[in-house]
Amino acid sequence: MKEVADILQCQGTERDACVKVLQEIQGVFGYLPAEALRYVTRHSKITSRQIHGVATFYDRFRFTPVGKHIIRTCHGTACHVNGARHIGRAVEEALKIKPQETTPDGLFTLESAACLGCCSLAPVMMIDDTVFGRLEPQKMKQILRKYAQTAKAKSP
Ligand code: FES
Repeated sequence: MKEVADILQCQGTERDACVKVLQEIQGVFGYLPAEALRYVTRHSKITSRQIHGVATFYDRFRFTPVGKHIIRTCHGTACHVNGARHIGRAVEEALKIKPQETTPDGLFTLESAACLGCCSLAPVMMIDDTVFGRLEPQKMKQILRKYAQTAKAKSP
């Protein structure tokens, strides 16, 4: 738990450091591991009740590990009227997972979003920080295939 100790040393151990501490823990591990949260409660004034409150209030915090790539399909109004449902369904079929799930190979985690902030490109999905717009199911499947092939090529 050296990483968590370093975070507490940097952010402080007072209750008002809770959000920053959780952000940094998630930045290091990709989610909030139970062991890291126990360490925080033992070595700071931040309580497990406070952690639970903060982590469930902000939907960006996760309690389970995520895949190498996070896919966010947009279901906001502009995307909805431009066929977001078909894109969402096509992603689920291609990856054989539902929103909030991760593929068994650990490559993709699927999430849905209310609006990704680029409505003029609707329907939209993001993979990590990259936006893909004006999607059609076929185009989306090609994008996923490319990510999967790149991951395979990089694996030892
Ligand atoms: S509604 Fe999809 S990006 Fe805004």
